[in-house]
Amino acid sequence: MNWEAFLAPYVQVVEELKVKLKGMQDQFEFESRHSPIEFITGRVKPVPSILEKANRKKADLPGLEDEIQDIAGVRVVCQFVDDIYTVIDMLRNRKDFTIIEEKDYISSKKDSGYRSYHMIISYPVETIHGEKKVIAEIQIRTLAMNFWAINEHSLNYKYDGQIPSNIKARLKGAAEAAFKLDEEMAKIKDEVQEAQRIFHKNKSSR
Ligand code: GTP
Ligand code: MG
Repeated sequence: MNWEAFLAPYVQVVEELKVKLKGMQDQFEFESRHSPIEFITGRVKPVPSILEKANRKKADLPGLEDEIQDIAGVRVVCQFVDDIYTVIDMLRNRKDFTIIEEKDYISSKKDSGYRSYHMIISYPVETIHGEKKVIAEIQIRTLAMNFWAINEHSLNYKYDGQIPSNIKARLKGAAEAAFKLDEEMAKIKDEVQEAQRIFHKNKSSR
């Protein structure tokens, strides 16, 4: 298996999506409007993780590309819950890819406490062999949801997916606290944004 060749289109897609989403973020800033996007990250799934997931899903090489939808993954992190829906709307209106599926783990959080909005897209990428439609996963979440998810992910890694029940309970409590934080911040959103606009103005006039 030539993994480098196999993954090349995925690398391309992650890079293109990052550029495009960063472009959206910059446009808000040029227009001195609150950007619904705080930051963007992206990654191509490491080969050992692809193999592990293929094994778990009993996917063989031909079906692998359809079964594993997060070989190309991009994450959009927002300040406020509202911003997530602004980003979702903007993504739905784009003409450069099609949305295959949307998973709303915000209105119905996972048992673990995980909250996030996922879009599975089909993204046409130009390769030296012509156009290829690549499946990618876009995760959209707040800073608070992200903080929780990266910590839970580390613990899952540490405990090989078998987090002890006392720590699991703590994580559920932390997820509840993150949810409350998002709720509280939503209530003072206008205040926060006004402060950020003033700060932005002062910064650019200096
Ligand atoms: P996997 O969960 O990756 O096997 O894929 P799936 O087909 O079940 O899709 P799902 O929507 O459940 O998860 C897709 C991605 O969301 C994962 O790869 C993670 O990045 C993220 N995710 C889902 N559930 C959790 C969770 O409980 N904790 C954390 N930290 N991330 C999660
Ligand atoms: Mg899952």
